[in-house]
Amino acid sequence: MPEVAELAYTPAVAAATAPIYDRMKRVVPAIEWPFHAPLVHAINELKREHNAVILAHNYQTPEIFHGVADIVGDSLALAAKATQTDADVIVLAGVHFMAETAKLLNPAKTVLIPSRNAGCSLADSITAADVQLLREAHPGVPVVAYVNTSAEVKAEVDICCTSGNAVEVVESLGVDRVIFLPDEYLAKYVATQTKVEIIAWKGHCEVHERFTGAEIEDFRRRFDRLTVIAHPECPPDVLEAADFVGSTARMIDFVGSEKPPRVLMVTECSMSDNVAAASPETEFVRPCNLCPHMKTVTLSSILESLQTLEPRVEIPDALAARARRSVERMLAVKPK
Ligand code: 13P
Ligand code: SF4
Repeated sequence: MPEVAELAYTPAVAAATAPIYDRMKRVVPAIEWPFHAPLVHAINELKREHNAVILAHNYQTPEIFHGVADIVGDSLALAAKATQTDADVIVLAGVHFMAETAKLLNPAKTVLIPSRNAGCSLADSITAADVQLLREAHPGVPVVAYVNTSAEVKAEVDICCTSGNAVEVVESLGVDRVIFLPDEYLAKYVATQTKVEIIAWKGHCEVHERFTGAEIEDFRRRFDRLTVIAHPECPPDVLEAADFVGSTARMIDFVGSEKPPRVLMVTECSMSDNVAAASPETEFVRPCNLCPHMKTVTLSSILESLQTLEPRVEIPDALAARARRSVERMLAVKPK
């Protein structure tokens, strides 16, 4: 562990991190930077020392997303890009299922998850035994699992998907009916986009399930010319009230290409900060639902993880082989 003195905001640290702060100055107050900068500087040095990369999900805070991440994206992009890195060490600034996916795709690399508490209410909503019971109840019906699941669940299913490719994955199977788990609302959304019959599980994201259609209508009354974009983990009445529905990456692309004057991003609230940092032409109205799991990853926990090379993600070989097959099948599905 470095001495506290080593983490001081010295003139050298200030100079080295000034271009990094420039990327987030619209969303991180200048008064906060002296606290973040020494950590950012130390993390970036340790990355070089260990030949490490940091993959960060779009819900990470701006000082992580813009300050230390080498690759940022939605769950699909992080899984795909995890297969393309030459690094020896992957730090997954996100939640545990994302780090497991990175490990499945990189069994020989060291994969670190900086917080042991970075779970997910969706991943916790279903077990491998539940999948076996579903198969018994619906013999012969293929099972599609959102990547927000444990390696044990991935090992029991036919193919994975993310919110960025769920419709393509369901249709790639060429069948009339699929079991889709664990997110009930994503399953319902997919059912509106395809003729394939969807048998859903009852899992919910504890962040997105809190939004309501009435709340969206209230925002529309209070803010004129408001464009509402929502994540498909939201309940159906929220998605009906939205102008656009998509994964976190598609929401970001929408803001970049459409440049709406005022936008409400109906999702975890750090994402609005991250996009606002690079979108001066758009005003962001922020309904702030935080993911408590994502927020257990901090600059301090990333630094500690790189210093100790712990906590590591380990998956027994036989389990990993079965789970990997479901993730690799997903990555082989062509995007629309
Ligand atoms: P995507 O980044 O795939 O849209 O997923 C959102 C999410 O809730 C991840 O935890
Ligand atoms: Fe899980 Fe929801 Fe948090 Fe994403 S936002 S990690 S789905 S609890």
